[in-house]
Amino acid sequence: MSIRPILLHPDPRLRKKAEPVDQVDLSVKSLIEDMLATMYDAPGVGLAAPQIGVLSRVFVMDAAGKDEAPAPKVFINPQITWKSAEMNTHQEGCLSIPEQFDDVTRPASVTLAYLDGDGSACEETFEGLAATCVQHEIDHLDGKLFIDYLGPVKRQMITAKMKKLKRERAKEKAETKNA
Ligand code: NI
Repeated sequence: MSIRPILLHPDPRLRKKAEPVDQVDLSVKSLIEDMLATMYDAPGVGLAAPQIGVLSRVFVMDAAGKDEAPAPKVFINPQITWKSAEMNTHQEGCLSIPEQFDDVTRPASVTLAYLDGDGSACEETFEGLAATCVQHEIDHLDGKLFIDYLGPVKRQMITAKMKKLKRERAKEKAETKNA
């Protein structure tokens, strides 16, 4: 089990469509272990495989509240089979776009068909934070980010900030190496 580096926007790998998983084998299970460790380390509520540079349709989530026991969930090949007409607006953030938050409006509840970490077929309906999270993570599997829901000016501002952050991080890394 290892903590993997999380890709930061802008990165072409965050814009690709991920491929379905054929078989939930040991390599997929090991990927899931790494993704959970990486998500809890960040810490974040959800993490999709493309965020660590793996273009597979897998994401992990733990939408438990601060005072609740950890509730890790694994989703393989998720598909939205139902969306509520009712919409909800939540403030969203993303581990690939650190420290940037904005309101996104999405269906208030959704039903997903997916395979769990053992490869068993599941169907489940989500609401509240979990509904927002699963839709945000499925977007990652299709190369979509939450900033795509914002206006072009906001999106460009966030992207400019992220480019600056990436330059600063690269510089820090180079300085540590030289020290
Ligand atoms: Ni995200």
